[in-house]
Amino acid sequence: MLIRRKRGWEVPESSVTPEHLVMNRRRLLGAGAVAAASLALQGQGWFSFGDQKLPDFAAGDPSLPLYPAMRSMRYRVDRDLTEEKVAVTYNNFYEFGSSKNVWQPAQKLALRPWEIQIDGMVEQPRTVGVDDLLKAMALEERTYRFRCVEAWAMTVPWTGFAMKQFVEFCKPLASAKYIRMETFKNPEVASGQRASWYPWPYVEGLAIDEATNELAMIATGVYGKPLPRQMGAPIRLVVPWKYGFKNIKSIVRFHFTDQRPKSFWEEIQGSEYGFWANVNPKVPHPRWSQADEELIGKGGTRVPTQLYNGYGDFVAGLYTARENEKLWM
Ligand code: MTE
Repeated sequence: MLIRRKRGWEVPESSVTPEHLVMNRRRLLGAGAVAAASLALQGQGWFSFGDQKLPDFAAGDPSLPLYPAMRSMRYRVDRDLTEEKVAVTYNNFYEFGSSKNVWQPAQKLALRPWEIQIDGMVEQPRTVGVDDLLKAMALEERTYRFRCVEAWAMTVPWTGFAMKQFVEFCKPLASAKYIRMETFKNPEVASGQRASWYPWPYVEGLAIDEATNELAMIATGVYGKPLPRQMGAPIRLVVPWKYGFKNIKSIVRFHFTDQRPKSFWEEIQGSEYGFWANVNPKVPHPRWSQADEELIGKGGTRVPTQLYNGYGDFVAGLYTARENEKLWM
């Protein structure tokens, strides 16, 4: 985040799996999910993805039978999907290091049991296991654009549930104005968390009206399968009109409050990363332009960035009464 990195995502077309092979694999996985999972647990679950071997990240995940979920036709985009192989190997997850290549160390993260704490200004604080939460929520697939503050972008099919439904499940008090979210903290597993200069755990926040906007989503899966660890398993936030750093991964706590939370990057470098962080091509980051973005896995293709990442029709109204705030950083 703080340093502009080299373009590690630029994989040649030749190493990318044709879409029909990916689709075949998805069908196979759906049919033989249980068998595939047990094979993988025995250490044999590797599949070939182009010329690179990647593990079957969803193997052994108890929520596998819930995927793929029904696709929502309301949330579609006019861009090609980013190749799965690219999206799952080019990640920001500082808990496991500051490079983009964190998928391997991230496999150490244990996904069960995964308890989620709901507290603060709610009728009744409680803890819910992720599998119970999955049973209580309506899962669907939505394809969204995703724009990182570093000026790279992807388009991925998330699976998950509307954050609005989750907020209702939490039963906040009328006095709650914000939701503060926290990632797990376990430096034994997450070597990046041994770096004491970062204010662990990773924290992010939304105003309640943002969280209940129809676009805000809690993702539990991607590409028709449970989320891989490096993309924030078992649950993460997806708010496509904001810069990527708002999309907090591997969440263990939702705290309802009347105080605006200070997020991880704001704490580290408040002059560069703020609370609202809405995408705006006309407002440069202090150290680089935000006018355009590079589509990962597309050989360096750049496209113009859009206001609110193209989602203004859904979200611009949230900010009319907040004009005097620093909405774009
Ligand atoms: N969440 C946690 N817990 N830790 C992180 O380092 N990085 C953020 C966001 N969520 C991050 C995080 C940033 S900077 C980006 S761009 C996105 O995750 C990247 O999501 P992806 O790796 O799934 O593409």
